[in-house]
Amino acid sequence: MSHNVADSSSNDLPPMPETLIDTSSAHFDDFIAAAVRLITNTTSLVDLQQQRVMLTGKKSTLTQWSKQLGGLDSEAKKTYGAKLHEVRSRLQQAFTDQQANLERLALDAKLDAERIDITLPARGNRKGRLHPITMTTQRMQQFFVQAGFNVATGPEVEHDYYNFEALNIPSHHPARAMHDTFYFDAHYLLRTHTSPVQIRTMKDSEPPIRIICPGRVYRCDSDQTHSPMFHQLEGLMVTKSSTFAELKGLISEFLEAFFAKSLTVRFRPSFFPFTEPSAEVDILADNGKWLEVMGCGMVHPQVLKNCGIDPNDYTGFAFGMGIERFAMLYYGIDDLRLFFQNDVRFLKQFS
Ligand code: DAH
Repeated sequence: MSHNVADSSSNDLPPMPETLIDTSSAHFDDFIAAAVRLITNTTSLVDLQQQRVMLTGKKSTLTQWSKQLGGLDSEAKKTYGAKLHEVRSRLQQAFTDQQANLERLALDAKLDAERIDITLPARGNRKGRLHPITMTTQRMQQFFVQAGFNVATGPEVEHDYYNFEALNIPSHHPARAMHDTFYFDAHYLLRTHTSPVQIRTMKDSEPPIRIICPGRVYRCDSDQTHSPMFHQLEGLMVTKSSTFAELKGLISEFLEAFFAKSLTVRFRPSFFPFTEPSAEVDILADNGKWLEVMGCGMVHPQVLKNCGIDPNDYTGFAFGMGIERFAMLYYGIDDLRLFFQNDVRFLKQFS
């Protein structure tokens, strides 16, 4: 609602003498009372501004009066000057008060409109969680880090020299067939295992070396127990005195720590081009069957040589395992593909 001073008869200013000298004290008091009423009756900041112009602006009675001060003698100037000053400051005070009032009302209205119902039930916060493969990797890492191993990583797009040649797998070697992979060109491929990280580490650092290398690996394979992308965790230790006995001890302890129970562990002679001797590690399952869980062996002297390590001074052992296999055994999952379908109903069961 807008208050136009001119039309609003009830809110009109009293008729005022135009000449200052004709204005009595009672006139001034009436004027102040009526003006304050006008100000107090405004209902918006726009109205208030209109009143400010009307009551104190260039064309206002107050300004007309003020202009007449200059023509008065000094006695009258003093009296009327003081009076006009009083009028102006009374109006100013009324404007300030009303402005604060209107602002507070506006804020109250805004707060009221934006009120939040804190009694509504909360939406709940569903926490995310780690993927079972991540948790399994961390569980494996935890053991080896406590045993003094560092975590190393390498590229997933690998040169065939690191993935095969340096690991004693020449191009004609039948083991390459088992590692049928994805090639980018004649030399670059998606690594088929984490073993190339062994090579990179031995080339880049001096023994003693104690590392584990978790990571993604790739093979052209897909069924209930194979996925074209999966994860391995590789281990390597090279010192002046590493032995197969030490390897057996470490692996047995790892398996018991990981599965959190005592186990019957078997080291079965096997073959890998990069280890000699080589073994496959089996654990005895509750149903009496042996489960193969990883490969291992003493690093082949030729592999040490390929990395600039003298096999007469140093010996090493290595091991490699599939992380999905450990996750499946640990959580009792029978289809590896579940890990990669990202079905929340599956994923939310692991914490
Ligand atoms: N690289 C082998 C594979 O992918 C696993 C492996 C076996 C790694 C024996 C090793 C090892 O370091 O000593 O099948």
